[in-house]
Amino acid sequence: MNTRKTLRLLFFLCMFSCIKPYLYSQQLNYDKEVESLLSKMTLDEKIGQMNQLNFYELNDELIEKVKRGETGSLLNTTDPKTVNLLQKAAVESRLGIPLLIARDVIHGYKTIFPIPLGQAASFDPQIAETGARIAAIEASETGIRWTFAPMIDVVRDARWGRIAESPGEDPYLTAIMGEAMVRGFQGTDLTNPTSIAACAKHFVGYGASEGGRDYNSTSITPHTLKNVYLPPFQKAIDAGLATVMTSFNDNDGIPSSGNKYLLKNILREQMGFNGLIVSDWNSVGEMITHGFAAEGKDAAMLSANAGLDMEMNTELYAKHLKHLVEEGKVSVTDIDNSVRYILKLKYRLGLFSKPYVDVNQPTTIYSDEHLQAAKDAALRSAVLLKNENVLPLKETQKIAFIGPMADAPHDQLGTWIFDGEDSHTVTPIGALKSGEEYKSLKFDYEPILRSSTDTDTSNFSKIQEIVKKSDVAVVFLGEESRLSGEAHSLSNINLIGVQSELLKEVKKAGKPVVLVIMAGRPLTIERDLPYADAVLYNFHPGTMGGPAILDLLFGKANPSGKLPVTFVREVGQIPLYYNHNNTGRPAPDNAKTLYTDETNTKQTSVGDVSFYLDSGKEPLYPFGYGLSYSKFEYSDLTLSSKVMEMSDTLVVSAILKNTSNIEGTEVVQLYIRDLVGSIIRPVKELKGFQRVSLKGGESKTVRFTLSAEDLSFYGMDMTKRAEPGYFNVWVGGSSKAELSETFLLQ
Ligand code: GLC
Repeated sequence: MNTRKTLRLLFFLCMFSCIKPYLYSQQLNYDKEVESLLSKMTLDEKIGQMNQLNFYELNDELIEKVKRGETGSLLNTTDPKTVNLLQKAAVESRLGIPLLIARDVIHGYKTIFPIPLGQAASFDPQIAETGARIAAIEASETGIRWTFAPMIDVVRDARWGRIAESPGEDPYLTAIMGEAMVRGFQGTDLTNPTSIAACAKHFVGYGASEGGRDYNSTSITPHTLKNVYLPPFQKAIDAGLATVMTSFNDNDGIPSSGNKYLLKNILREQMGFNGLIVSDWNSVGEMITHGFAAEGKDAAMLSANAGLDMEMNTELYAKHLKHLVEEGKVSVTDIDNSVRYILKLKYRLGLFSKPYVDVNQPTTIYSDEHLQAAKDAALRSAVLLKNENVLPLKETQKIAFIGPMADAPHDQLGTWIFDGEDSHTVTPIGALKSGEEYKSLKFDYEPILRSSTDTDTSNFSKIQEIVKKSDVAVVFLGEESRLSGEAHSLSNINLIGVQSELLKEVKKAGKPVVLVIMAGRPLTIERDLPYADAVLYNFHPGTMGGPAILDLLFGKANPSGKLPVTFVREVGQIPLYYNHNNTGRPAPDNAKTLYTDETNTKQTSVGDVSFYLDSGKEPLYPFGYGLSYSKFEYSDLTLSSKVMEMSDTLVVSAILKNTSNIEGTEVVQLYIRDLVGSIIRPVKELKGFQRVSLKGGESKTVRFTLSAEDLSFYGMDMTKRAEPGYFNVWVGGSSKAELSETFLLQ
């Protein structure tokens, strides 16, 4: 070949290698590359890819294991140099297949955002997307290219500790927030080194664990599965979701990691998921404990035949799959299909062409931009529950800051913090002491308790003095972070310890009291309300929660959050959620409770309706509720038509007016009710929301467009469609919206 031709070939090859990652990023399936590689793999190498290991320490044994192709993924290493050594070992293996490096990056890597329940309170998917994007940028610096998030379990039980990680009780809000996080984590191009594969979890129904006790059984019926628990996963899949994690729970006696119908028929065939399915930690081995598998080999067989692609941590695939194939109990076809999903993800992430992380890249961790985004998220995630003309505070007032959550850098971050650092948390007191913004403020601060669970009241004696010499008391109470999260369920969700007593003691001093709560769940705070003139609720607000809360308290920001979950009056009301069925005997609003003057009553004296004699039928605060310093009024609900054809869309509009002179943002919510269905439909369903900012006195017409798809559900025959008939539609500032109209779908 002459020199000119050689040079031309070299030039082309060089150009190709430079643009190859770009080419990969534009591909969506890599079928050719995957099939070519798969055809070269031995059964041992295939099984090795299906084996995910937890990283404990870097040693020769692990390096050799990787070199032999005995693992396809490691979780929980965060040192880029270690990642590169492990990737080098993988690249030096016979077929050079790189590793997937994974970590739980749930609501931030180093810069911590509000817990997902708090982000959901913002009703702002941009907050979730930005938070996930920043988490991906920070985490990928250390070689992490796969996170086990978003958690999109619908949760109707505040006893369950993992409600903290969820977007709450509503399928629509959960779907919108989950989709946004998938976009944020994965970016627009998975081969981009700052993109990380998302993992929608826990598939499926884990949030319905019986009694709110973690890991417990669920009994989700087929219709409820389709209409409540699956929609958030469908939305994530439609957004290009890369991976799904199976859940610990059994549903109707079948653990998810071995549920063939769930994984192959529903997730793959019906929902169209074509990414990687990974088990939750030990969940394959736990099928033995469940009583679903006789021993490890049985568990491996059940999961492999169910279509579980990668097994986290118990190594039962590594130990048993080869024998199971040789015995004809697991097919090579299933093995090959699983390995295809694994290899495809590695190609989609660009790991074959760029397995190494750049250890010299300038860090973005804790950048001003990231911290500002975390503060913005905390500002929008706070919910003002009560305000009797106490907030906003004035900087000329003397403030008594009291309580264990006022300066709690660890607990303010919330649960599922693997890498966030307490030293970077800016607490409310920290912001006062170090910040420029409030340096003129006169305040005293006494924690009184060491933590939310501290029961030592010896410092209560300090309360009267500090409050009496102040104009207003701001009391920070709630939950230390260890009270929510995985395996942290509670049977009593009152303010724990002696916090309620502390609040009462503060109120005795006769000054206005502002209660600021930081918690991982909705708490039963009805008994505390008489002792607080205002309540600002924060679901563990993250690194920048302190400055955000101060800005909200002093009116530099106006609260706009809305509740993503119902606040019950008593834990005994659980489960109580807004999108419930009407029942044949719904309790009227005036349902009498025990505290009537009747005695010796007959069986039916208080009415045979669905409610509690002692706590009635209403929650303390409904889904979607939240106050503002502004005052918003809704009027003129109009429909583009009173009759909607299946092929039509219906425009629902209403006028929102800010009747105050304070600029603010209202989350305008749209709810529907399908009055008659082939199966009963909920009394309300959220089908739209918009954050609308208005200046004082300003009005705006807010519009929503409904399609038949928005009205569709899985009916009696298990097909998804909208059913003709009458619908109510509401527009308002919570699920108790009253402005309503009716239309006919035909
Ligand atoms: C945990 C959690 C799961 C997490 C996984 C890896 O037990 O259930 O959400 O992603 O193990 O840490």
